[in-house]
Amino acid sequence: MSKLAVNDLQLHGQRVFVRVDYNVPMEDRDGQMVINDTTRIKETLPTLKLLIDKGARIILAAHLGRPKGQREPSMSLRPVAVKLQEMLGKPVAFVGDCVGSEAEQAANALKTGEILLLENVRYYNEEEANEAGFAEKLSRLADVYVNDAFGAAHRAHASTEGVARLISSRGGKCAAGLLMERELKFLGDELDKPARPFVVILGGAKVSDKIKVIDRLLEKADAILIGGAMAYTFKLAQGLKVGKSLVEPDKTDVALAALAKAKQRGVKFLLPVDNTVVTPFKTDRLDKKGRPVMELTNPRNNTDPNIPDLEEGVDIGPATAKAYAEEIKRAKTILWNGPMGIFEDKRFAPGTNAIAQAVVEATKTNGAKSIIGGGDSVKALNKAGLGDKVTFMSTGGGASLEFLEGGELPGVAALSNK
Ligand code: 3PG
Repeated sequence: MSKLAVNDLQLHGQRVFVRVDYNVPMEDRDGQMVINDTTRIKETLPTLKLLIDKGARIILAAHLGRPKGQREPSMSLRPVAVKLQEMLGKPVAFVGDCVGSEAEQAANALKTGEILLLENVRYYNEEEANEAGFAEKLSRLADVYVNDAFGAAHRAHASTEGVARLISSRGGKCAAGLLMERELKFLGDELDKPARPFVVILGGAKVSDKIKVIDRLLEKADAILIGGAMAYTFKLAQGLKVGKSLVEPDKTDVALAALAKAKQRGVKFLLPVDNTVVTPFKTDRLDKKGRPVMELTNPRNNTDPNIPDLEEGVDIGPATAKAYAEEIKRAKTILWNGPMGIFEDKRFAPGTNAIAQAVVEATKTNGAKSIIGGGDSVKALNKAGLGDKVTFMSTGGGASLEFLEGGELPGVAALSNK
């Protein structure tokens, strides 16, 4: 990595501003906000322990949700401070603001090895606007900047970018944390020169979300396996019927261009040969967003290339799962991003679960490096209890995708060079 790393720094007695991604899923239980998944907190512990050992005075900054500049109580980071303290086995102080005199006093009062978590930086609109005055206020809290928030590194916000530029302009060091280093290693270096065969599995709803990634990976991969609703746009592009499946009719040209590029480069490009289909119908019930709840009835396997007019594809079928698994089992490098179907409904999880099993199997028996590119595929693996059986799972969602598209993320660009 060309960027400075936290291991390279002498930090004894220094105030270190650490940007972390504590944007964790939470749920209101009897008026109390409870954290549903602590992965993002757990993944920062190695960096925090290293900083403690180095005698740093640690100031943690993070966002939670999208409060749009409002002090939205359900998006307070206070419960995260409690959870972090429990997981770290060490006191974690919390201050109800991220800038201003209260935050400055709390930061200055820290002794070596002590930790302070600031309140949600997105309680200020200036954070997302990367407003210079706000970044300057944040920068007053620290001498050194560490970014361990890979999941937020695609945002050029005050706490991910502006503050680093300011600290650096004053001669302060700006370094990547250990989690950030791992993310860049696995999603970057390991995929730049992959051991072959390199198999990429891409799912999810939209071709438009993934097209830049597909285009870039067509330059590197030996095989690309497509699942999720995205596959129906490819079907449509090939002149097949997709019934009521989720599609992007205006993206068929993009799908055809990807197929042509795959052919030209000799990349195996596999599309589903069968699908689980259902008959959807509108109920009288409304969801949280006020939209009618759809009932997905009569699931069956469809082996016809066309999907009948009244039916909708919701998962890959068993023949596709088998063909994809064969490809995955031979791989030496695997990148997986996006589920194969609506895995949250257990009737439509078999396709995603079969892929998860094949990835785990290739990791174990073929020595493949398996890299899971964040978001729903991580959820699916964890749901299947296989999260610890792959080489690396990214903590990023949008950030992983943007990084895989090939650009430098603003939060990484702002760090000091080695
Ligand atoms: C995430 O959860 O993907 C990151 O924390 C970024 O959150 P955002 O999409 O609200 O910027």
